[in-house]
Amino acid sequence: MDLKTGNTAIAGGPEFKYKRILTGDRPTGPLHLGHYAGSLRNRVRLQDKYETFILIADIQALTTNFEHPENLKENIFLVALDYLSCGINPDLSTILIQSMVPEISELTTLFSMLVSVNPLKHNPTIKTEAKERGYKELTYGFLGYPISQTADIAIFKADLVPVGMDQLPHIELARKIVRKFNELYNGKLIEPFALIDKFPRLAGLDGNLKMSKSYGNAINLSDSFDLIKSKIRSALTDKNRIHPTDKGNPKICTVYSYHKAFSDETLIKKTEYNCKNGKIGCVKCKENLFEVIKKLLEPMNERRAFYLNYKDAVWDVLSTGTKKAGIIASETLKEVKEAMKISYNLP
Ligand code: TRP
Repeated sequence: MDLKTGNTAIAGGPEFKYKRILTGDRPTGPLHLGHYAGSLRNRVRLQDKYETFILIADIQALTTNFEHPENLKENIFLVALDYLSCGINPDLSTILIQSMVPEISELTTLFSMLVSVNPLKHNPTIKTEAKERGYKELTYGFLGYPISQTADIAIFKADLVPVGMDQLPHIELARKIVRKFNELYNGKLIEPFALIDKFPRLAGLDGNLKMSKSYGNAINLSDSFDLIKSKIRSALTDKNRIHPTDKGNPKICTVYSYHKAFSDETLIKKTEYNCKNGKIGCVKCKENLFEVIKKLLEPMNERRAFYLNYKDAVWDVLSTGTKKAGIIASETLKEVKEAMKISYNLP
């Protein structure tokens, strides 16, 4: 991360000069409220202003899930369904499947000439992820996924990449690779900026700093209301509060952090005041939160129900998006190959 060099733009800042957004997710399972708070709702907002590309990174998912590829197709469907349900509009956003644009893999190979191994080994996100996953040895594919991610971005000439803080080292690398390419080959690729959403990462139901499928502490966008209700009931609050009249500390309460993410200003203020002064019990506070989340998800569930009735419509969106993406990708790749002098035009 290098905030000083100005490689980040903050959501809500002077975004106007940017034109094309690319962002993506690994299809490893259904998306949850953390994805929604941290990126999906921002994408929905941004798609009106920018040409938007959303990449379902199935090859990147293989870097960690290569032993279990059997769920990939189902997960691609579920992620696309979550996108459409939460308001990503396929007329405004191009949704594509990474592996079906093979030009991205080709560009990854070409870019890999420009990257030394050491910075990859020292990439803080790679290191954290390897540690979390207990990897003793890193595969070539895992170590190199930031190069593949650079190709994801550069092949579409995106200038803005909305991501979470953890992705900053990858965007920094993308800028370096693109800069080196442009310098060496007189290229015209775009150095992308990260767009960091102002909203901090959503905590897990268990109070863990990160809501994550792998920690089992997530509320999925596709969960039934009954399930969501019982998950919220189990959410960690201020442990020192036993009785509703005890004075609570909202700062350490997961439920309050969700209010902050999803409730309106009035309810947030009321919740904070009532908790601090022992005027509301956690049970009631959780009920209020459930109502807020229910209201948020209701329109999503309507769209979800529609698409579940017409599953082919989801695949059509993916097919159309991937085809459109493929045309742009092949143009960029052609330019890159000409610049790198591997364009031979044989008869
Ligand atoms: N690495 C990102 C994640 O784990 C997913 C991703 C793949 C991505 N390709 C991308 C994000 C390109 C932004 C741009 O969330």
